[in-house]
Amino acid sequence: MKFFVDTADTNEIKELAATGLLDGVTTNPSLIMKSGRPMKEVIAEICELVDGPVSAEVVATDAEGMLKEAEELIAIADNICIKLPLTLEGLKACRVLANKGVQTNVTLCFSANQALLAAKAGATFISPFIGRLDDINVEGLDLIAEIRQIYDNYGFGTEILAASIRTANHVKDCALIGADVATIPPATLKGLVKHPLTDKGLEAFMKDWAATGQSIV
Ligand code: E4P
Repeated sequence: MKFFVDTADTNEIKELAATGLLDGVTTNPSLIMKSGRPMKEVIAEICELVDGPVSAEVVATDAEGMLKEAEELIAIADNICIKLPLTLEGLKACRVLANKGVQTNVTLCFSANQALLAAKAGATFISPFIGRLDDINVEGLDLIAEIRQIYDNYGFGTEILAASIRTANHVKDCALIGADVATIPPATLKGLVKHPLTDKGLEAFMKDWAATGQSIV
């Protein structure tokens, strides 16, 4: 399973990239707003920090406008992935970009039928939003399972990018279901390593080692 980080905070990205655990980055207009920086500048910096796909989202609502914006964004770096909304116009733009060999991430997916359409439009990634479905009392993980089955039924190459992840259990459950990628907020990603028994065990080992008076180097 690939790990993307869902942020436009370059300090967080730098820190996570240094762990070697990061396979890509996703951003959206809200995350760009939160960064307080010009979009193209921040996306260019992220593309230098990470080798994998960096999703940059268009904001036009018609296919023609989306494709114009995509051209600007693609020029930033080779690892740009164009993020498009799950609308008919977004799917139209997706097909054009897919035919040109441009990576695409179709976002704001809330149903299996939407995911089926994105795969037919040649999307590189489909982003089903788990947390936002949970927020309205719909089981977000069920959507991941449905898409997995549909894509496997037909051998679609579109990768399932589980998005709107809120908890460590979301990550584990997505991995069990077989999502290809999870895009995770920085704090949740860093939290995956934590276990109280690891901390307790390490503390005991350190104490016992100190009592030996030895050193390894
Ligand atoms: C994914 O690409 C989105 O940017 C993100 O996962 C949305 O998450 P949210 O529902 O926590 O805003």
